[in-house]
Amino acid sequence: MPVGTNAPGRAAIPQRTLRTDPWWRAPLITFVLLSAWVLYALVRTVSQRAYFAGPEHYLSPFTSPCVTASCPSGARDFGTWFGHFPPFIPLALITLPFLLGFRLTCYYYRRAYYRAFWQSPPACAVAEPHGKYTGETRFPLILQNLHRYFFLAAGVISLVNTWDVVQAFRPEGHSFGFGLGTIIMLANVVLLWAYTLSCHSCRHIVGGRLRNFSAHPLRYRAWGFVSKLNAKHMQLAWTTLATLMITDAYIALVSSGAFGDPRFLN
Ligand code: FES
Repeated sequence: MPVGTNAPGRAAIPQRTLRTDPWWRAPLITFVLLSAWVLYALVRTVSQRAYFAGPEHYLSPFTSPCVTASCPSGARDFGTWFGHFPPFIPLALITLPFLLGFRLTCYYYRRAYYRAFWQSPPACAVAEPHGKYTGETRFPLILQNLHRYFFLAAGVISLVNTWDVVQAFRPEGHSFGFGLGTIIMLANVVLLWAYTLSCHSCRHIVGGRLRNFSAHPLRYRAWGFVSKLNAKHMQLAWTTLATLMITDAYIALVSSGAFGDPRFLN
């Protein structure tokens, strides 16, 4: 039996949509921006260049934690777990699958790439080009349900990113100091925490499975806080993509010597 737009009972409309507004604009912008970001991240992670500024102790979030013998010794804050990685293997191999999993299964990104890349559907009240629709009930999309576990992993990775910022406040030869790069890294990690805590799974973990809030005032307050962040989840999803890119690009400039980090202290 036909499903989706061809399902029995659906209005037989020859046009793809009756919308006259520029409904295609949002998925097109999403397609361009997400593609550009993925391309940038791909080039930076496989190039394995200019990801650590030693004197300032700036480590790119694309390469953290750096735990292989290929990393400069100063960047190995968590020790050396592996030997040398061959070229093109991401140095952050232990965290990358979890970070990708977290973003790919995020409720917001799902909406964004289903619309922009799969056109399923491209916009509200615009028929999708596919003949059938099975939702997320079958392999591989049923794996989207792993999001709650990726959320837990993302929390651990945010702790690692936080430690990188702490290290950036301890430049080479000084117990404390900071420059413009430290502030950029700090802003990035604050926004990463905001994005992570605004996750729908986090909101459920904090406030779900309760019969009433009156007996759980702390969880109610935490749920209220997470709910406020959750309302900004889409904005945080985009903002953190931008801050990740800016942080990495800034560290690349400092590390390669193309730009001198302005120091405010030490
Ligand atoms: Fe977006 Fe969880 S819903 S990170």
